[in-house]
Amino acid sequence: MNPSPNPEALFSSGGQHKKKALSSQFAKDVIHGFSRHPKAVSSQYFYDKPGDKIFQQIMNMPEYYLTRSEHEILSRQRKDICTAFNAFDEAFNLIEFGAGDGYKTKLLLSFLLESGADFTYYPVDISQHILDELSKSLQNEIPGLRVKPLNLEYFSALSKLSEMSKRRNVVLFLGSNIGNFSYNSAGGFLRRLSWYCKKDDMLLLGVDLKKDPKIITRAYDDPHGITAAFNLNLLERMNRELGADFVLSGFTHHTFYEPLSGKVLSYLVSLKQQTVSFSFLDWEVDFDEFELVHTEISKKYSIPELEILAQQQGFQVLKHFTDEKKYFLDTLWKVK
Ligand code: TRP
Repeated sequence: MNPSPNPEALFSSGGQHKKKALSSQFAKDVIHGFSRHPKAVSSQYFYDKPGDKIFQQIMNMPEYYLTRSEHEILSRQRKDICTAFNAFDEAFNLIEFGAGDGYKTKLLLSFLLESGADFTYYPVDISQHILDELSKSLQNEIPGLRVKPLNLEYFSALSKLSEMSKRRNVVLFLGSNIGNFSYNSAGGFLRRLSWYCKKDDMLLLGVDLKKDPKIITRAYDDPHGITAAFNLNLLERMNRELGADFVLSGFTHHTFYEPLSGKVLSYLVSLKQQTVSFSFLDWEVDFDEFELVHTEISKKYSIPELEILAQQQGFQVLKHFTDEKKYFLDTLWKVK
């Protein structure tokens, strides 16, 4: 392992690529992640343009039950869910963290609008591109909806909203995004969320449930090689954006489910001893044979475990909504 690159040396060696690469958060996080033991890359970097496309393919695989299960919940139970929001009794803000393409949320939005609820939808995302696309499709598909996209980090968005509006907040955090935190980090995240909310504000949280380990394993280690391509795209992204020279055949994707902890762990494994150069960073990284790079955690919960989490972090559980097979849960909580 070579020491981290020296910024001054980089700037004196010139080149627009280098300046751009070095100033990017991606470069900083890669340098940090590859200097750790075990090496790690933050999973937020999966979702560049090619990564978004591969993730669409993951969501369409028969093995990846998560999106379909949550879609089933939101489409079949939207009336009960919206009633539990108290959506028809008083005006409120509907805030969505990590809104994505809105595929599932649109079910709730159109129902609320048709039923005469008084609300504004605030999709929050750090990607302006995603927000632009979402706003466009919402204008076409649900005309009349009040939408105010917030291109901010989650908690900055909440604190800005609390200055702008005294209305009650209902926060959506769907799609098992909470599963990409460890149990402890999820607790920290939820605690922070409760600080930024008022008493009686609500959270609808999408959670993947513990189930037959074989079903979970298949969802993350599919026979089509799509999840492998998704994971390996991280290395291709480093080639594109940081001038790295990863040869993809030198790495393999490895993922496994630990039923006890409920964690799916995803790794990239270096198949040989090798050195990778990052030309835009004037930097090299060594990989041992079979060295692991940790890329993602996808935590699965049991209902009792979640109820403890809610309790510990200042929430009261109001209601659980599950799909027919009980694969997935949208759980509604209230700030105490
Ligand atoms: N983060 C999502 C999840 O936990 C998406 C995902 C599916 C994923 N398969 C993956 C992330 C494999 C990393 C590796 O379900």
